[in-house]
Amino acid sequence: MAENKLEKIVSLAKRRGFVYPASEIYGGLAGFWDLGPYGAQLAHNIKDLWWNHFVKSHEDMYGIATTAIMPEAVWRASGHLEDFADPMVECKKCEGRFRADQVKDEKKCPECGGKLGNSRQFNLMFKTGEVYLRPEIAQGMFVNFKNVLDTTRAALPFGIAQIGKAYRNEISPRDFLFRVREFDLMEFEYFCREKEWPEHFERWRKEMLSWIASVGIDESMVHEIEVPENDRAHYSKRTVDFEFDYPFGTKELYGLAYRADYDLSRHMKESGVDLRYADPQSGEKFVPHVVEPTFGLGRTILAVLVSAYAEDDFGGEPRTYLKLKPSIAPVKIAVFPLVKNKPDLVKKAREVYQNLRKEFGAVEFDDNGNIGKRYRRQDEIGTPWCVTIDYQTLEDDTVTVRDRDSGKQERFAIKDLETHFLSVLR
Ligand code: GAP
Repeated sequence: MAENKLEKIVSLAKRRGFVYPASEIYGGLAGFWDLGPYGAQLAHNIKDLWWNHFVKSHEDMYGIATTAIMPEAVWRASGHLEDFADPMVECKKCEGRFRADQVKDEKKCPECGGKLGNSRQFNLMFKTGEVYLRPEIAQGMFVNFKNVLDTTRAALPFGIAQIGKAYRNEISPRDFLFRVREFDLMEFEYFCREKEWPEHFERWRKEMLSWIASVGIDESMVHEIEVPENDRAHYSKRTVDFEFDYPFGTKELYGLAYRADYDLSRHMKESGVDLRYADPQSGEKFVPHVVEPTFGLGRTILAVLVSAYAEDDFGGEPRTYLKLKPSIAPVKIAVFPLVKNKPDLVKKAREVYQNLRKEFGAVEFDDNGNIGKRYRRQDEIGTPWCVTIDYQTLEDDTVTVRDRDSGKQERFAIKDLETHFLSVLR
């Protein structure tokens, strides 16, 4: 049943232009996915919302954008050269590679039944020449800590945030967008005095929950887990994972880690640059500690789709729709003339469409097929409202506005549409 839901979501995502297999005409590439027009818009809206939520609305947050390729020294300092590995086993017959902790029988290949070799540690970083594609975006924030301090008025406590691509050579990419080899991260490092970290940890834990609600992830499907010491990343002294009930099981969505002074201290040693903070009052110099909330964009999209996916019976017919929050819906409003072959209706509908587009941007015009089909198409991509121009419009300049979730229609004067949508969208 649950696996079936994932299949339905993958199929809808492909059919409606959210997510395509990467390089599909060449047979696809395992662990890579492309975003179609609605998926790219959805991703853009989520990134915007995140940037507003965690960067723009905080005076003490500095947004940056750093490169995806970084030198080996960064990864030596960060500990990734040594520690960023998963246990791997290889089949001696078909040469398939598997995560040792995910195979049922440690001796037998899950694909061909051949003999598996001994488990060895496999580093997940993509290396190209003497540089690496970053497996986490956090290091961009650490290596620029001094730059941000020197070029802004930042004073502890403060955060450095960014959104960008990360790359991991996962042994077994799987479960649609859940485990891939190239993905976007939204993340910040919050620098503070050592004794203050528990209070910031708690504050950001609550903010992460508020983000989860605001992006439209079903909160009842999210569970906080205190990660035991032996399961934590090498840099973390405390980690709380936010897990989500995906159709394939309850697994990590986001993480919140206390990285202490690990990264800055290691970079100070490796680079020889003094990364200490000088207290403006006492002049005392020390290495700040760090609390890090991290958010995978692909997992956010997946959790949003799983939370929003709905089926019901509508007017005696089954329908599928996405209950996306209007703030992230790729299309906010669709405008239709009731029929295509009445030039007056089409002209009026085009006028309404152009005016709404000026204000809201993400507005679609559709005069294809019957009106029921057009509603269903918009329901499937999660458009919250459809505006229909009908015969009555030509008499009194009113239109119907249909609500996606209830299917109810209400009449509005065309002149009031903009104010109405502004009030429901903000
Ligand atoms: N800077 C900390 C860090 O990178 P992480 O738990 O290794 O922490 C951060 O990864 C987030 O990236 C995870 O919480 C998850 O949302 C996402 N993520 C990790 N590996 C992923 C993968 N292979 N595919 C998709 N998303 C992934």
